[in-house]
Amino acid sequence: MTDRRQFSPATERNREPILKTLKGWLPASGTVLEVASGSGEHAVFFAPKVKPLIWQTSNYDAEQIDSAMDWLAHSPSNNLVPPVKLDVTETKWPVEAANYQSAPVTAIFNANMIHISPWQTCEGLMAGAGRILPASGRLFLYGPFKFKGQHTAISNERFDEWLKSLDPEYGVRDMEAVLDEASKNGLRHIIARPMPSNNFFHLFEKI
Ligand SMILES: C[S@@+](CC[C@H](N)C(=O)[O-])C[C@H]1O[C@@H](n2cnc3c(N)ncnc32)[C@H](O)[C@@H]1O
Repeated sequence: MTDRRQFSPATERNREPILKTLKGWLPASGTVLEVASGSGEHAVFFAPKVKPLIWQTSNYDAEQIDSAMDWLAHSPSNNLVPPVKLDVTETKWPVEAANYQSAPVTAIFNANMIHISPWQTCEGLMAGAGRILPASGRLFLYGPFKFKGQHTAISNERFDEWLKSLDPEYGVRDMEAVLDEASKNGLRHIIARPMPSNNFFHLFEKI
């Protein structure tokens, strides 16, 4: 059978520091919805280490859904839920469906999506988190950000130029714009942690 697993060297590099930070802030129970699970490598690494939480993978890209399916088959964990097709820009997500089987979503994790997609994905992510999370539910957002219009490193500036050459709608986002979007959707910013390679880990809590 064909192995459809994708391999991301960046994911292998950042998964340990992300998990270390994440573990200090995860809720005690429920489901963590991973928005834009990518290859699925974060999910198979995190899930066995965050039990009894359930880890729900998702993506809108069919090939990455296949990759995550094969990663889950290769590295199973009884708290890992196969990917659902989820486009963050949609106004109802599969985890909101009446027949959704898993425990209620108490946290959402999203890494490296809002800069490598149009701004509407940030709007959709914040709107979805605002709709779905219960009071005190958490949104974890990881990636590169600008602060007050300034890049935090030359490498991020180059990365931003490269992103915009792929698509002018892509780009490293201004944290102030992200905070505005969060606050419009009832999400309070709790922490910003600098992470390796000029990335940040942001925690938001539903009011
Ligand atoms: C650079 S990858 C990051 C993947 C993974 N989170 C990681 O950090 O390795 C960007 C991801 O965003 C997803 N994505 C882009 N637009 C999306 C949308 N509208 N809804 C859901 N996922 C989206 C892509 O399919 C891809 O999996």
